[in-house]
Amino acid sequence: MIEFRSVSKTFVQGRSSVTALDGIDLTVAENEMFGVVGESGSGKSTLLRLINRLEAPTAGTVLVDGEDQGALSSRQQRRRRQRIGMVFQQFNLLANSTVLQNVTLPLRLQGARGRDTALQMLEFVRMAGHQGTHPARLSGGEKQRVAIARALVTRPRILLCDEPTSALDSGHTEEVMAVLQDVRREFSTTIVLVSHELDVVKASCDRAAVLEGGRLAALTDVTPPPPRERTGTYAERAAEHLS
Ligand SMILES: Nc1ncnc2c1ncn2[C@@H]1O[C@H](COP(=O)(O)OP(=O)(O)OP(=O)(O)O)[C@@H](O)[C@H]1O
Ligand SMILES: [Mg+2]
Repeated sequence: MIEFRSVSKTFVQGRSSVTALDGIDLTVAENEMFGVVGESGSGKSTLLRLINRLEAPTAGTVLVDGEDQGALSSRQQRRRRQRIGMVFQQFNLLANSTVLQNVTLPLRLQGARGRDTALQMLEFVRMAGHQGTHPARLSGGEKQRVAIARALVTRPRILLCDEPTSALDSGHTEEVMAVLQDVRREFSTTIVLVSHELDVVKASCDRAAVLEGGRLAALTDVTPPPPRERTGTYAERAAEHLS
């Protein structure tokens, strides 16, 4: 589905250069939930941006569905990019637009109306009834679920998530991760999840890449944690966890 073949990326700024990724080889399978972890600056976001070609590799090849992204015309690349959704740590919703306007935006950019699809997606992410609200009135978890609905309206086959829960508390993190699991199940979406939160990756991913200084330090199967009892309020669980 997604394949990196000896991929390197170097950013040149004036006389200095930074090698963000160095000789990456990996494959993400169809319908996989694939984690990418690593310290700040290890190249996680760059790896994601190479998948939807927001960045081009300095060396090597990135293939999506067997197609070399670099061999496509810019028009084909644009069309490809529409088949890849993305969500971000800071949600990137338009503050002056309603929830519904935010979610329909990708379709409006393609010349479609999309109101019905957007409403369906809002229901899917459990945000039905919020369509007229502005983002400022929503919690972080709600904003991220709206952002996921927006990413899904074009029915992408791949969803790239860059630290989607890093701005959220644990309850909202669980909600957002549950929605991502639903997305994967319902739409057979392939999900690449960048996170520095190891627990989040452990709880949801099939495999994970560990980046260190732009290199692939490890590629590992993820063993899910034993099921936790989810009883009690946040305060009760916090007290129990800490004691
Ligand atoms: N557009 C750019 N121009 C110059 N250098 C860049 C650019 N994008 C990334 N870098 C550099 O490449 C390296 C990897 O950056 P990247 O953003 O991929 O790391 P990251 O693992 O996502 O970090 P974080 O956890 O802080 O988000 C860093 O040293 C960064 O400064
Ligand atoms: Mg990053």
